Amino acid sequence: MGCGELKIRSYDVQVHRAGVEDLERRCEVGPTERVLCIDTMGDPICRIRNSPMCKMLVAELGSELVGVIQGSIKLATVHKPPKNIAKLGYVLGLRIAPLHRRKGIGSRLVLELEKWFIANDVDYAYMATEKDNEASVNLFINKLGYANFRTPAILVNPVDHRALRLSSKTEVAKLKVEEAEFLYRKFMTSTEFFPDDIGNILRNKLSLGTWVAYPRGESWDDFGSDGKVLPRSWAMLSVWNSGELFKLRLGKAPLSCFLYTKSSILIDKIFPCFKLPAIPDFLSPFGFYFMYGVHHEGSLSGKLVQHLCQFVHNMATKSKDCKVIVTEVGGKDILRLHIPYWKSLSCPEDLWCIKTLKNEENAIHQLPKAPPTTTSLFVDPREV
Ligand SMILES: CC(C)(COP(=O)(O)OP(=O)(O)OC[C@H]1O[C@@H](n2cnc3c(N)ncnc32)[C@H](O)[C@@H]1OP(=O)(O)O)[C@@H](O)C(=O)NCCC(=O)NCCS
Repeated sequence: MGCGELKIRSYDVQVHRAGVEDLERRCEVGPTERVLCIDTMGDPICRIRNSPMCKMLVAELGSELVGVIQGSIKLATVHKPPKNIAKLGYVLGLRIAPLHRRKGIGSRLVLELEKWFIANDVDYAYMATEKDNEASVNLFINKLGYANFRTPAILVNPVDHRALRLSSKTEVAKLKVEEAEFLYRKFMTSTEFFPDDIGNILRNKLSLGTWVAYPRGESWDDFGSDGKVLPRSWAMLSVWNSGELFKLRLGKAPLSCFLYTKSSILIDKIFPCFKLPAIPDFLSPFGFYFMYGVHHEGSLSGKLVQHLCQFVHNMATKSKDCKVIVTEVGGKDILRLHIPYWKSLSCPEDLWCIKTLKNEENAIHQLPKAPPTTTSLFVDPREV
């Protein structure tokens, strides 16, 4: 196309808010069987506003807003120490108005965002997409030179309004932020994509806390200092209240899921005494918790992770609108065996693609070709 009249600008809340929200509503992301959609509740930039640096660009044709893209920048682990930290630029929220697709606007927006990354000394740009979003995969991999990088799994579990019974054999304790930061730096620094500013995440008001679980009877009362003997098995995770930022709602759910939701609401109303697992009402916007920084050590730690997930579930039952608990784990991470989730709501292979933005030959710029250094992956709650 002749893109002569196309203008790319920085997002201005006064001018572009309504247009971006409208575009988001009109754009279906990915394949028709996609289940959950995002509702930004009047704040289209909410998904990136907690990142250390962020930018949103819009594309305009005359007075019409036809495209949008978001990006954020942070420092994170990409290799094993000592040369392990790189500057990463995350690309998200690319949307082009349906009538203006295949005119090169999506590519232009990504390239403009990459310019901002390069101006800020970013080593790699990366993005995540559903594996079967053909348009997005072709755009990033075939057209713009991104490489297929990792395929973590997004696990989604509904919150039943009844609390689960927790095993009395396990102790759960809430950590202070300094204790949590100490443990994360001690045990997860070499995990891929571990954010250098973990303390900022833990201190953010959306972070509800970090908990550890360990077998009852073992003592562990000073989490924050080195030289202490830890229980033989233990697990930890943190919880981020994503529902404070934006809501999810059911999009084009498979018919079976839709019917199950509808009928279970009815069943719950008519036959509460049946005690069927109550399925939340996914038809109206709802909030969710994101579990991040899930780590475990020791032979019993799988059960402890499970226990922590149940603990978080029970916490969620007390929240007004938290209807699902979401987490994302490395594709080959055995954690997925211990984290409860519903297959029909989850995504088994979220495709992460990466591109080197510097033409340097040193090891840190060979990441796209490198195999994972660990099976685990740190998914930053600010990038959900
Ligand atoms: C994905 C999307 C952003 C592409 O935007 P676009 O402006 O149409 O992309 P471009 O015109 O720059 O296309 C560049 C290349 O991407 C690929 N591509 C784009 N749309 C495609 C489609 N529907 N099917 C297959 N390939 C496609 C092609 O390789 C294309 O190059 P070509 O036109 O020379 O063949 C747009 O389809 C969209 O908004 N989709 C809904 C939201 C979404 O899925 N966003 C991505 C989330 S990560």
